[in-house]
Amino acid sequence: MTMLEDRVAIVVGGASGLGDAIARRFAKEGATVVVADIDEPGAKVVADAIVADGGNGIAVPCDVTKSADVNAMVEEAASIGPRIGVLVCSAAVESLVPIVDLSDEDWQRVLDIDLKGPFLCMKAAIPHMVKGGGGSVINMGSTLGLIVAPGHPAYCAAKGGLVNLTKQAAIEHAPDKVRINMIAPSATTTGLFMKHSAQAPDPEKLRAQIGAMNPMKRLGDPEEVCDAAVFLASDMSTYLSGSVLPLDGGMAARRIV
Ligand SMILES: NC(=O)c1ccc[n+]([C@@H]2O[C@H](COP(=O)([O-])OP(=O)(O)OC[C@H]3O[C@@H](n4cnc5c(N)ncnc54)[C@H](O)[C@@H]3O)[C@@H](O)[C@H]2O)c1
Repeated sequence: MTMLEDRVAIVVGGASGLGDAIARRFAKEGATVVVADIDEPGAKVVADAIVADGGNGIAVPCDVTKSADVNAMVEEAASIGPRIGVLVCSAAVESLVPIVDLSDEDWQRVLDIDLKGPFLCMKAAIPHMVKGGGGSVINMGSTLGLIVAPGHPAYCAAKGGLVNLTKQAAIEHAPDKVRINMIAPSATTTGLFMKHSAQAPDPEKLRAQIGAMNPMKRLGDPEEVCDAAVFLASDMSTYLSGSVLPLDGGMAARRIV
């Protein structure tokens, strides 16, 4: 039995990392997947793989910081046929610069992609969901939106802001049967974490150290994030909205000493 039949799922940031994994999993669950990303060739690789695997997927280029791009992408998704049932906001960038060294431009770039991006995507997609009788939005947050770490001011601020934007959207659209939730992962073996750790002198050592700091003594697996995404996207979670699901092995629940 598949969980996401008869619906279009837009995965923004679907060309890489967790978005890529979620897009492929949603297609396996029967959704028609719109892989939206500023990285058009990367989005096409994922959409082509979905089709080669017997699923339905298309790539649509989109810069989440530009409302014209986002609106055009959502209109294309709406023209496919079945209702837009799911929106995943996974596009994000990180900046590992402490407050006093962070440039205005870098601050704005991170806030625009990581916080304004989900705002523009929800603004464009939710009216289609309302018209279709409901839907599910999944905003990709982070442990760093719940607790903070040194050197990530813009990312932590954006992800913290996204927590309350998620709750705000959830209460505004609860009567419309549009549910808005967040998955807040800790470091997983893909995407941004793997890219940034690759720049360390000894990437494998750093990854092992960060895994060992987790209460479960390991990094997260992208498929574990996909499991949560399918649950939130599906009719298994119809009374769940405004929630923040820490997908982190207990990380954000723990005091270090
Ligand atoms: N990978 C992890 O371990 C991890 C941990 C915690 C939270 N997250 C969160 O999960 C989500 C996915 O992260 P990831 O690690 O898969 O990252 P990633 O870098 O692999 O993927 C992010 C995608 O966003 C796209 N993107 C960047 N700027 C864009 C823009 N302006 N418009 C449209 N697309 C744009 C990139 O092209 C890329 O395909 C993010 O929200 C991230 O904060 C990831």
